[in-house]
Amino acid sequence: MKVNLILNGLRKTFEVLPNEYLLETLRNNHVTSVKNGCNASACGSCTVLLDGKPILSCSFLSARAEGREVTTVEGLPEEIGLIADSFGAECADQCGFCNTGLALTVYALKKELKNPTDEEIKQYVVGNLCRCSGYQSQFKAIKRYLGEKR
Ligand code: FES
Ligand code: FES
Repeated sequence: MKVNLILNGLRKTFEVLPNEYLLETLRNNHVTSVKNGCNASACGSCTVLLDGKPILSCSFLSARAEGREVTTVEGLPEEIGLIADSFGAECADQCGFCNTGLALTVYALKKELKNPTDEEIKQYVVGNLCRCSGYQSQFKAIKRYLGEKR
């Protein structure tokens, strides 16, 4: 079956299986920034934005993306650069598996919540796991990014 969607601002048509998930469709079509960390809706590495809201692409059927807008880090180079700068400034650099999903979640957080509390920030990013470090420096980096005036 075919699915028509807008990927990073461009109209695309992908041939997909009825039971295919968006993670697979994207990676099969060279969008390899989207990572398969657990393939079980548990880690957040596969996060993409669907109409601006973070979703787990490993558990979202590609067919359900018909007519919707899908955004990955490739579609937000400037903003993702600012997020990366904030993470660098707080020594919170992360690995290539978790960082793109977290960056998209942090971007969506900034769009959605104005002046979020610390608890709201933590709740928003709770689904983006890191298996190898703590979360303190990442939390500081997120706050730095949210505090940037533009
Ligand atoms: S790969 Fe989708 S949540 Fe882990
Ligand atoms: S830095 Fe990526 S999982 Fe920990």
